[in-house]
Amino acid sequence: MLYSSASHQVAADRLARHQATPYADALDRYVDRNPVQLMVPGHGGTDRGISGRLADFLGDRTLALDIPMLIEGVDLEEGSPFEQALELAADAWGARRTWFLTNGASQANRTAALAVRGLGDRIVAQRSAHSSFSDGVLLAGITPSYVFPSVDAEHGMAHGVSPAALDAALTAAEAEGRPATAVYVISPSYFGSVSDVRGLSDVAHAHGAPLIVDGAWGPHFGFHPELPESPARLGADLVISSTHKLAGSLTQSAMLHLGDGPFADRLEPLIERAFAMTSSTSTSAIMRASLDIARHALMTGEEAIGRSVAEAQRFRDMLRADARFGVVSDAFDRFDDIVDTDLLRVPIDLTATGVSGHWLRQRLIDSNDLHFEMATATSLVAVIGAGKTPDFDFVMRALVAAVESEEAAQERAANADAAPFPALPAPGPFRLSPRDGYFADTEVVAAADAVGRVSADTLAAYPPGIPNVLPGEEITDQTVAFLQAVASSPTGYVRGAMDPGVARFRVVRGH
Ligand SMILES: Cc1ncc(COP(=O)(O)O)c(C=O)c1O
Repeated sequence: MLYSSASHQVAADRLARHQATPYADALDRYVDRNPVQLMVPGHGGTDRGISGRLADFLGDRTLALDIPMLIEGVDLEEGSPFEQALELAADAWGARRTWFLTNGASQANRTAALAVRGLGDRIVAQRSAHSSFSDGVLLAGITPSYVFPSVDAEHGMAHGVSPAALDAALTAAEAEGRPATAVYVISPSYFGSVSDVRGLSDVAHAHGAPLIVDGAWGPHFGFHPELPESPARLGADLVISSTHKLAGSLTQSAMLHLGDGPFADRLEPLIERAFAMTSSTSTSAIMRASLDIARHALMTGEEAIGRSVAEAQRFRDMLRADARFGVVSDAFDRFDDIVDTDLLRVPIDLTATGVSGHWLRQRLIDSNDLHFEMATATSLVAVIGAGKTPDFDFVMRALVAAVESEEAAQERAANADAAPFPALPAPGPFRLSPRDGYFADTEVVAAADAVGRVSADTLAAYPPGIPNVLPGEEITDQTVAFLQAVASSPTGYVRGAMDPGVARFRVVRGH
């Protein structure tokens, strides 16, 4: 009893601390002083003149809040409001330390790759890594090997990696005499599947490597009992978090969390250096403030987040009640890497409608100004911001009207004999490091002549969006056939290709 009232008190004290928005408040105070600014930014926080249109557009107060870095009482001194905001964010997500980023989770990925290079140059990475992480690997001069995510071939979706698959990949790397110095996985997936982060971190640690979790799509995790836990509380050593995606901060603002695990002491100075390398020296105060405010909203918004979850569940039930629709995540238990689901993401199964997700997505934009996050040939994916409650009755009516329309009948007929996507081929071997492949002298050759050559580009067929060729890898005939087959299908495309039909490849001269 004594223990429970003590722990209640700890929780109450913690919540009380999170009522504050120290950095945002410091900006408010600064603006209220109405300072005379003979410094950047050039709009001077206005007094209008040439900045009148910008002030009308954004509002005078927005310009006043757009102040430069290194201001006393804001972010200059030790223990500044900015530092307090960072500490509160670390506490909120269960991290030892948190960095605020203003170039998206893309910056977090590049920072993480540059940082872990300080531990060694070998990494085992989930093959479906976001391009920003692959770019970081390339910048850092890391040699990756890959572990493939599970793929739902029916819907063209890539999910995650199971601890067993990771263990096998790490063991294989060791057997080749190239033990991994870091591991990179993605959870949640674009479709809301969540990996066993605790199991993955145990495996990575048992192999002597820190675990980086690209949790770009899960910044709201840990803020409601029905949502998955924050990866930093599950043993992840670095967590990439795209706060703007579902957690309410401004577009492009993001966070990088350092977990409090066995690698934290070594990683902390490495991140500091890498962060300096990837950051602007004129970081946006407005974006930073939006991160401070988003943290406060999540920490104090459990009820509102609960309403979002309940509404998303109601939407799922509406879909289940109509035989033409389904919920893709209802069948997640078919995949051994998926242990949980992000309830704020609703992947709709359209198979029974006979229309493609791409067609339906565009149709809803054109007829209802209704915008879904993404589509595949057989699905449409809704993303619900934490704490938001969109009008799902309207959404459901729009979906039904669209699939019952005359245009849908035509789309169904056109779709009837669409060929299924071919199976994903294994990538060719690395003949150069990604960095050497990327920076090499290159030439462009016809597809038939590219077979056996070394790629200078990254090419990824969508679906499922897993890179089929990376810089430095050999291009195989199966890869060329696969890329061209996807490119020629009505709903597929190849990201990074030189032309839409993948008729030409950029290859390394002499290789
Ligand atoms: C898995 C993953 N990581 C990182 C990013 C980059 O995030 P941002 O757009 O915030 O730079 C994305 C973007 O969609 C992503 O899907």
